Amino acid sequence: MRAGDMFEIHYHLLFGVDDGPRDVSESLALAEASIAEGVTHIVCTPHSNYEFRFNPDINMERLALINEQLKGTLTLGMGCDLHLSYENIVDALHNHGKYTINGTRYLLVELPDFFVFKSISEGLRQLSASGLIPIITHPERNPLLVGEPSRLDEWIGIGCLTQITAGALLGRFGRRAEAFSFDQIRSNRVHLVASDAHSMDWRPPAMKDAAEVIKARCGEEVAQRLCIHNPRAVFFGESLPPQPNAKKSLNAIKAERSVLKSTFRRWW
Ligand SMILES: [Fe+2]
Repeated sequence: MRAGDMFEIHYHLLFGVDDGPRDVSESLALAEASIAEGVTHIVCTPHSNYEFRFNPDINMERLALINEQLKGTLTLGMGCDLHLSYENIVDALHNHGKYTINGTRYLLVELPDFFVFKSISEGLRQLSASGLIPIITHPERNPLLVGEPSRLDEWIGIGCLTQITAGALLGRFGRRAEAFSFDQIRSNRVHLVASDAHSMDWRPPAMKDAAEVIKARCGEEVAQRLCIHNPRAVFFGESLPPQPNAKKSLNAIKAERSVLKSTFRRWW
């Protein structure tokens, strides 16, 4: 893995807008840590949820202030960590550019911890039908998806992508999240890795270590795809390079077989 190649597409770099950095010095400490890791581009993605209001004007002000201090050592972009609430979905459908990554079609979406699959599927379908490409963030931290990862197949099938947290691959969210993350990577259900950094004390950047551990456990091609090529395409709003097909889960295969069996019985 060459230094200076990595793109972060989910990152709480802006200070004083959510539970990320509290002041500009904390933002700069994060930025310096990412530069030292070999990151060249970061999308700033403040929360839009029940706790933190998303204000594009303030966000752009903070981005400009940080940019001034960085003196060209990093390229910053704007996006949003959009909680998938009804209100957010409606607003995103009417104002794509307010929330998408650098005004492209890519949109980070955070699922509630507990939800009704049918409602979330409907929300994702509406976003997708409107031309957006929802990126489902940290499925490894969602209790329902950890229990039933094959649900991701349906959403990937309608054009969604998934993003795993770098720290989860390093065991920072526990063994279950780590095992789940690698299982999904091996099943080709993961498209992107990002730090989702908040501060140097709480969830610091971890792209370099994550890329190394993916390389060691899944091979260099996978590490480059998830940490370099796909995030770069998202940053610039390009189509992802060809992706391997998601391997079907045992449950999905069983469900298909039972449909085939019942159809066969009806015919004969
Ligand atoms: Fe986040």
